[in-house]
Amino acid sequence: MAFVSRLLGRREPLATPGQHLQQSELRPSLPRAGRAGRPTFGSASLPPAKQQTLREVFTPTRPQRSARRLVGRQPELIRIFRAIAVDRAHVVLYGERGRGKTSLVNLVAAAARSSGYMVGRFACSFDSTFDDIVRGLACDLPASFLAVPAITDGAGEGCEAGLPIGKLQPRDIAALPGRLTGRHLLLIIDEFDRVEDPATRTRFADTIKLVSDRGAAVSFVIVGVSDSLEELLGRHPSIQRNILGMPLPLLTDAEIEEILGEGGREANIEFPRPMRAVIVSLARGMPYIAQLLGLHAAAEAAARGATVIGNQDLYAAIKRAVDEADPRLTVLYERLTKRGRDAAMRDALYGIAAGEQDKFARFVVNDQGGVLRAAGFRISQAQWEQILELGAVRPCLSAGPGAYTFADPMLPHYVLMREALEG
Ligand SMILES: Nc1ncnc2c1ncn2[C@@H]1O[C@H](COP(=O)(O)OP(=O)(O)OP(=O)(O)O)[C@@H](O)[C@H]1O
Ligand SMILES: [Mg+2]
Repeated sequence: MAFVSRLLGRREPLATPGQHLQQSELRPSLPRAGRAGRPTFGSASLPPAKQQTLREVFTPTRPQRSARRLVGRQPELIRIFRAIAVDRAHVVLYGERGRGKTSLVNLVAAAARSSGYMVGRFACSFDSTFDDIVRGLACDLPASFLAVPAITDGAGEGCEAGLPIGKLQPRDIAALPGRLTGRHLLLIIDEFDRVEDPATRTRFADTIKLVSDRGAAVSFVIVGVSDSLEELLGRHPSIQRNILGMPLPLLTDAEIEEILGEGGREANIEFPRPMRAVIVSLARGMPYIAQLLGLHAAAEAAARGATVIGNQDLYAAIKRAVDEADPRLTVLYERLTKRGRDAAMRDALYGIAAGEQDKFARFVVNDQGGVLRAAGFRISQAQWEQILELGAVRPCLSAGPGAYTFADPMLPHYVLMREALEG
């Protein structure tokens, strides 16, 4: 009971008390020994075909590609489409890592293509320049869209020949649709936060202004990790009205359950309600965590020939997620908790990770009459200072004073999973 009820924290219990797991129930007997005497997880002995199926169903390492497996996001999809098709606006989609931005724009791209848009996409890297990005977008457009003879002789892939040689200008993008056969061009730029050069970002803002002023048949969807539109694109008051800024929220608990329910049905593995409740409480709306634990737990169950996820499968899945977590998370957690010996700090981190948060994973820190609370959890001044000093959280200035979030979006999940195993 302690394990699941603690994990479920302040939420409505998803299982009746009798159904709650004992922590000791979740902890399996020792992992099976491998051939070399080393412990192995069940998935190691899965037949390749089954592994393949599970990896198609649960996709922690890949964005969703089709509507079939994408849970929720209908309101966002409708808003993006309305902005592009009706308002002739551009869209800036931003949010934390792993929240589902690329999955959503995959859907936008597919829907736009089937509505007759010409869609070009590009994912930026830290050193991408304006020219790299624009040429990358043009290369991604099938050459069959080229309406007029190439400006340059036979050069380039896709529709790159529709661009002039030499340094590109915003007006070259505004002119591009006139050299193509389709009605409207949709250009999707992902990972825009990675672009280090501020001048490159500013040139895209200039481009958006120019294509809007000229009424050119080009729309941009710019995607990146950020807390705000301004942080991603820079501050350009003159283009505000041409842009829909869309922060991407976490999924709801019901949607996280749906990932498990639907995935389980497709893989022919059942996630009983208490197991789903635990994963929901660890994921806290983050689709990546649901995909990761769903995959590991299903692989464990399949490896022992079971079609129902058991306690030992979920325990092994959480353990594997913790063992394979980014080593920086482990180092930070060990430093904060003095290698787990600081029980009060462990409680504080757990209290914040499981505490009250909004749909963007932000929590409030306030001091009422000398009593400090973070995410509704009472902590000491010294603890808060240490959490700040070690960079575990950061302020969310765009959300107002007192709003914070975990600096690494995976940290709260890591804290919850560590406590699930050791608490
Ligand atoms: N709506 C959804 N339904 C089911 N799974 C989803 C959904 N959105 C995202 N996922 C899953 O969550 C994980 C992260 O998704 P995605 O790569 O789209 O996020 P992202 O915001 O683009 O991340 P990053 O900032 O790292 O690029 C992937 O495993 C993906 O399959
Ligand atoms: Mg992405």
